[in-house]
Amino acid sequence: MPQPEDGTDVFDLIARCKPLDENSLYCNLLQCSDFQETCALAEMDGKPVGFLSGYRPPAKPDTLFVWQVAVAEEARGLGLGRRMMLDIVSRDPQIRFIEATITEDNDASWALFRGTAKRLDADFNSAPRFDRERHFRGRHDSEHAIRIGPFTAR
Ligand SMILES: CC(C)(COP(=O)(O)OP(=O)(O)OC[C@H]1O[C@@H](n2cnc3c(N)ncnc32)[C@H](O)[C@@H]1OP(=O)(O)O)[C@@H](O)C(=O)NCCC(=O)NCCS
Repeated sequence: MPQPEDGTDVFDLIARCKPLDENSLYCNLLQCSDFQETCALAEMDGKPVGFLSGYRPPAKPDTLFVWQVAVAEEARGLGLGRRMMLDIVSRDPQIRFIEATITEDNDASWALFRGTAKRLDADFNSAPRFDRERHFRGRHDSEHAIRIGPFTAR
């Protein structure tokens, strides 16, 4: 679980993980404090190499919405993305679903969420959510919603 003092490291890590949107340092600080229970930080040799930010949508207390997953290039392919997600859902048995949005071309992200669904022995569904023209006015690729669950994490 991240601490408020990790906010700056998280900001720098996300800047290194294209194509992720960079948020403000203040946003990362809030994620590491007010939202720390639904976020995870991974360290390798004491250095931050992974961060997953998430929150519970106010109308869906049984759901972890995954906002961003960032793993530094030198730590990719080791299962860190999946481990951070499984760690968060194992913190609270009330969480029975994971949601996120993914752009069509992000193969690593699709593989990460599909692999996590398999680990949780849960269904995986996807549907269009935020449209390039309608919601982003042409400034961002369309985002597809994914939903994993229901599951019981141990
Ligand atoms: C997406 C990302 C977080 C994955 O992190 P990771 O720790 O390397 O992922 P994992 O090692 O946990 O891999 C999970 C699964 O995805 C697969 N995978 C990982 N990278 C992949 C790639 N580039 N292409 C295809 N599959 C990939 C793994 O083989 C694994 O599959 P498995 O479940 O069948 O074993 C990382 O690549 C990243 O930070 N990318 C840049 C930022 C980004 O796009 N974030 C996601 C959007 S929110």
